[in-house]
Amino acid sequence: MRIDRTFIMLKPDAIQRGLAGEILSRFEKRGMKIVAMKLIRVTEELAEVHYAEHVGKKFYAKLLSYITSGPVIVAVIEGLDAVQQVRKMAGSTLPTEADVGTIRADYGQELPMNVIHASDSTSTAAREIEIYFKPEELIDYELDLKDWVLSFQHLKD
Ligand code: PPS
Repeated sequence: MRIDRTFIMLKPDAIQRGLAGEILSRFEKRGMKIVAMKLIRVTEELAEVHYAEHVGKKFYAKLLSYITSGPVIVAVIEGLDAVQQVRKMAGSTLPTEADVGTIRADYGQELPMNVIHASDSTSTAAREIEIYFKPEELIDYELDLKDWVLSFQHLKD
């Protein structure tokens, strides 16, 4: 069993369309734990750090104007294989190609308006968490539901 942490951003369209609670509740209902969360504005400088590998690509100007267009919610989510599972729950980058039932298929529009960002690997998650959060902003606590969502560990074969 592997408990890990991932980074998500509810993008400006998610906030403006009132989807933040709905999307966050999907992670809660999945038994995942919110370890850190805040509402912020992404500045051009911050976007350049986050999307460093995409600066200069032909879609970057559009991505920059979108991501700086309104406040976003950034959060750290902990759970069983959280990096991989949250990516699956988010769905493919292009909403029209995302599997039915994923966040991007249900709410995404044309790129760049795909509602959510989720780290694509453990190392990316570590990097992105560090960009947006100070170590002391990550809160250690136990969820009371843990015995129920992780109870399979105690079951006999
Ligand atoms: S790439 O070129 O394969 O590395 O790009 P990809 O990993 O698919 O996407 C990187 C981020 O850029 C966003 N993106 C776009 N924005 C605007 N217009 C277009 N055409 C476009 N294509 C990709 C995409 O949503 C990724 O951001 P995140 O936040 O990870 O979703």
